[in-house]
Amino acid sequence: MKKIFLLAIISIVAVLFLFIRCMNTQTKETKSKTLIVYYSRTGNTEALANHIQALTGADMFKIETVEAYPEDYPELTEIAQAEKNNQVRPAIKEEVDNIDQYDAIFIGFPIWWGTLPMVMATFLESYSLEGKTIIPFCTHGNGGVDQGFIEVQKLSSKANHKEGFSLKGIHVDSARLDVEKWLKAIQVID
Ligand SMILES: Cc1cc2nc3c(=O)[nH]c(=O)nc-3n(C[C@H](O)[C@H](O)[C@H](O)COP(=O)(O)O)c2cc1C
Repeated sequence: MKKIFLLAIISIVAVLFLFIRCMNTQTKETKSKTLIVYYSRTGNTEALANHIQALTGADMFKIETVEAYPEDYPELTEIAQAEKNNQVRPAIKEEVDNIDQYDAIFIGFPIWWGTLPMVMATFLESYSLEGKTIIPFCTHGNGGVDQGFIEVQKLSSKANHKEGFSLKGIHVDSARLDVEKWLKAIQVID
């Protein structure tokens, strides 16, 4: 009698163990995949993207324009302003490999002329983002964040949106804790 009782207990424990393992595997397999897309000319937004990557483990995609911008700052600002005024869509060098695999996409950029660089509009218009979760982030010299984030919303109107994060480019190296707080607040990490 004792033996049967012991066997029954062992069997129940074994079934429970297998059930929990199976549930775990399923959770891992259905876990959503995240991509960090960013454009950065002088490295500030890239540093912010790196903080996000380190905290989330997400894949990264760096946007590069087919035509390089001039190194000369005044020349660059003129071109960037003309692109904004004429709503130019600068071509992007490479495409994201199978964007369908991603449920959430971070979109990062520096503020140019009070909004996003036009190449971000090229990116957002190039893919079907319907149903995906879009999370913007940016660096800036002193402002223009709100308009930048509004543009992201407009250019991905069929997506869901989470609250973005922004900071001055000069503060990016020491921003890791703030980035972590933000990611927790928007429930991207625990
Ligand atoms: C063409 C151009 C326009 C800019 N316009 C603004 C602006 O309107 N407002 C602002 O706060 N910073 C502006 N900046 C500063 C950048 O947003 C800031 O330096 C940013 O951190 C650069 O990021 P990156 O290193 O990733 O390129 C501008 C910079 C450039 C090159």
